[in-house]
Formats: sequence, structure tokens, C-alpha cells
Amino acid sequence: MDKRMVQVAVAGVGGWGKNLARNYFQIPDCALTHICDLDERKLDQMRRLLPGTRTTARFEDLLEDRDLDALVIATPAPTHYPLVKAALKAGKDVYVEKPFVLFAMEAQELIKLAEHEGRILMVGHLLLYHPVIGRIKQMIDTNELGDIHYIYNQRVNLGAVRGDENALWSFAPHDISVILHLLGLEPTDVTARGQSYLQPGIEDVVFVTLNFNQRSMAHIHVSWLDPHKIRKVTIVGNKRMVVFDDLESTEKLKIYDKSAQHTTDYNTFAEYITLRFGDITIPHVKVDEPLQLECQHFLDCVRERRRPLTDGRDGLRVVKVLEAAQRSLEKNGAPVSIAQTF
Ligand SMILES: NC(=O)c1ccc[n+]([C@@H]2O[C@H](COP(=O)([O-])OP(=O)(O)OC[C@H]3O[C@@H](n4cnc5c(N)ncnc54)[C@H](O)[C@@H]3O)[C@@H](O)[C@H]2O)c1
Repeated sequence: MDKRMVQVAVAGVGGWGKNLARNYFQIPDCALTHICDLDERKLDQMRRLLPGTRTTARFEDLLEDRDLDALVIATPAPTHYPLVKAALKAGKDVYVEKPFVLFAMEAQELIKLAEHEGRILMVGHLLLYHPVIGRIKQMIDTNELGDIHYIYNQRVNLGAVRGDENALWSFAPHDISVILHLLGLEPTDVTARGQSYLQPGIEDVVFVTLNFNQRSMAHIHVSWLDPHKIRKVTIVGNKRMVVFDDLESTEKLKIYDKSAQHTTDYNTFAEYITLRFGDITIPHVKVDEPLQLECQHFLDCVRERRRPLTDGRDGLRVVKVLEAAQRSLEKNGAPVSIAQTF
């Protein structure tokens, strides 16, 4: 694509989509030309906040506008599949919020369609654009943490109760995407247990366990019914351990130079477990706003026709885990195996 500004539209300006619209409005090398929402009051609000942007309640208006390059879709999850499909068929590049879609089969179809149409398809796995996650990934890839034994994520607080999806589909896409990215692996099987206390059939709290080739494992705790507000990732390697606390304002990343090792005394042949208690380091990581970095990445991919870090295949891997976790939830925590992605 030439140097002209990428023309973008945002569809769905509810709780989250309005943040995306604000970001695309502010980024200098793109033009937010349209905003679409079924709710006229939200369109009114957007007209006042982002002057000069056209608004419409008809998604078809976006498809029919030949000047529009890319659509950003932040509508509720069940609408993602039909809207993304229509946008790709209309020749638009597409960013879609997490969860990509509700079924792996839908994800596979959309990946093929994007490839066939030569379109960019990106999924909003926001945390992969977080500079701290980037730093941890670098540490894992350069073996600073050693072999990764296990990872556990907590994303809990009191609030954001949804009526259209459970806590698994609402929160866990972030954690699953981070875990798969850090380990560079897909799980072999998943187990999940949860409970619905507030609304029948919609789990408020879910505990998910991911197993990777009988070696590494990961655990995710998500809830909107919890006294604490926690957004934490803990990674235990055989050389070092790391904690990412996203609620800390400056000290988000802590590296613990701690480990435990088997040692053999060659005089007595006795075996010991040696514990090592080293320093705790808090490296400075420049934390630019992940949402802004994510929006910029989408625009760069559109302009340079590059495959996004969180492309359709990444979306598919996460949906497969969500689907398996949902099946396990429905079977009272029975393990559900996962076929590896193509
Ligand atoms: N990345 C993140 O951190 C993050 C955070 C919150 C939500 N999300 C995701 O963003 C999406 C939206 O979530 P939300 O909390 O903003 O939901 P919301 O219900 O607050 O907003 C959805 C908006 O989409 C509009 N809409 C519905 N169908 C539409 C259609 N066919 N065409 C145009 N507009 C339509 C609704 O009128 C509403 O204004 C979900 O996929 C959610 O999982 C992501």
C-alpha cells in the first residue's frame, strides 16, 4: 500500500470499542472515517467526542464504501463470525476483538477466506502487545529462566458481570494467548471447573488447567466475583522465576533469582535438593500503552501487507483452548484433548 493514510472504521463502540475508536482517531497516520453501532445514543456520543467522523447504524455502509481499507470490529462475540466474514468478502482488512469467534471451525473458515482474498486478519489479543510480556518472552527465548515448569495467571475482581458469556470466554482469552505465546506450544489437553452463582448457566468463576506434553503446565483463575483485584502472571522456570503484576504502576516485572536443583554428593552418593535464594531484580521496562501499540501494529500490517503477531491462526489456537475448556466445564472437569493446529 502507498503512503496515503489508511482509512479505518470501528464497528461496535460499547465499553471497549470506544477505546479503540479514540486510539484510531488520535493516531496521526490513519483516518478514522466511520463509526458504526446499532445504538443511536452511542453514535451521538461518538459524534461529540470524535468530530468529523461519519456515523451509521448500518454495517453494510462500511462494506459498500470503496475508500475504506480496514474494519475494526468490537461487537459482542457471537457477531464476530458473520461480521468478519462479510468484511473479508467485501475486500476489507479486519481487526476483530477477542474472542476471535465461538467455534474453531468458524476460525478455520475465516483464516482460509482471508488468505484467499489476500486480506490482513488480526485478533485483539491485547496482552501480546504489552511491553512486559515482550520482555518475558525474550527472557524465555534466551533461556534466562531455564526450562519453564509452570505458569499461573489470575484475572479476578468484583465487577464486569456479563449476561452474554461466562468468565471463561470474557477474561481467559487474554491469559490463554499469553501462555501459548510464552511457551510457544499448544496444550495437549485442558481441564476446567467453574460455578454459576449469579445467573444460571453463566459461570462467574472458572479454574482452567492446561497440560503441555506432560512437562510444562499452566493454570488460569478467572472470576468477576472475587474480593481482590488481581491481574498477575507467575512463571516458574528451573533457573529463575518471574512475576508480572499489571496493577503495579511502575514495578510491573520482578525477576526472582531463585531455584531448586538436584545435587549429588560424589563422596557419599547422597542426593540433595539445593535451594538457591538469589536477588530479586526489578528491571525498568518502558510501558507504552498496549492498546496504542496494538492499533499501530494493525495499521503497520495493513500498510506493509505483513502477517500480524496475533493473526487468525493465533486466534484459532486460543479458540481451540476455549472450546475445549468449555467442554470440560460441561463435563465437570473431565480432561479434553486438543488436536494441534495446522
Ligand atoms: N481487549 C480487551 O481488553 C477487551 C476488553 C473488553 C471487551 N473486549 C471485547 O470487545 C468486544 C465488545 O465488548 P464490549 O464490552 O465493548 O461490549 P458492549 O456490549 O459494551 O458493546 C458492544 C457494542 O456493539 C454494538 N453492536 C452489537 N451488534 C452490532 C452490529 N451488528 N453492528 C454494529 N454494532 C453492533 C452494541 O450496540 C454495543 O454498543 C467483545 O468481543 C469483548 O470480548 C475486549
